[in-house]
Amino acid sequence: MNKLLQMENIERHYETPAGVVKALDGVSFEISEGERVILLGPSGSGKTTLLNCLSALDSPTGGDYTFLDNEVPRNHSEKMTSFRRENIGYVFQFFNLLQDLSVVENILLIQELAGKKDPFRAKELLKLVGLEAEIDRFPGEISGGQQQRVAIARSIAKRPTLLLGDELTGNLDTETSNKVMEVLVSACQQENITAVFVTHDEGLVKYATRVIRIDSGKIISDEKIDNSDEEA
Ligand SMILES: Nc1ncnc2c1ncn2[C@@H]1O[C@H](COP(=O)(O)OP(=O)(O)O)[C@@H](O)[C@H]1O
Ligand SMILES: [Mg+2]
Repeated sequence: MNKLLQMENIERHYETPAGVVKALDGVSFEISEGERVILLGPSGSGKTTLLNCLSALDSPTGGDYTFLDNEVPRNHSEKMTSFRRENIGYVFQFFNLLQDLSVVENILLIQELAGKKDPFRAKELLKLVGLEAEIDRFPGEISGGQQQRVAIARSIAKRPTLLLGDELTGNLDTETSNKVMEVLVSACQQENITAVFVTHDEGLVKYATRVIRIDSGKIISDEKIDNSDEEA
């Protein structure tokens, strides 16, 4: 598998009145194309900070981060925005759908922002997540699980190289959460998308090809998961 990205001794320190908070304290790993990584750790361990650095929403205060062998821009909002638009898809815990736009319009808007408007693909993705009957409904007219599936379709609508999710099933009951993860995994496989999902829910490990555990800003374990039956 080809290397997609590499973090080398990444630090994200915050200066606070009470002293320096080391949200990330020397994190190193590589991710190859096609991996599905679950990032597990207790609250406050640095998961969101790491995801924000991976997506170039935030800049590390130390270390090296390369993506497809290029240095990821930092401390430069325009270059960081173009990096995100070109490479990153994001699924949020609270869906973040625009309430005044229909299901399909929510997806068309994201494609338009990335300069990749494609109504056919928008509909195909809604089929993929099982929402072909809902495309003209509004977010307020469908369930939480359905809204999260719209958010998944939206996050892959522009064919991101790397898909990120932060506690993306945190708002859903176990059954809905499993359905959403199954949809997500099959979308990643069909679209050949590399993914990193942050959670504190051990139950999601079964959807990963690799599990990285983090605590107090440091990686404490990093293991591949055998999914050979599924990956075949
Ligand atoms: N803007 C900030 N200023 C100061 N400390 C922060 C800031 N953002 C996060 N932190 C601290 O960094 C640590 C990691 O936070 P975070 O990445 O949000 O953890 P997690 O997502 O695992 O719950 C925590 O101790 C948190 O309080
Ligand atoms: Mg968090």
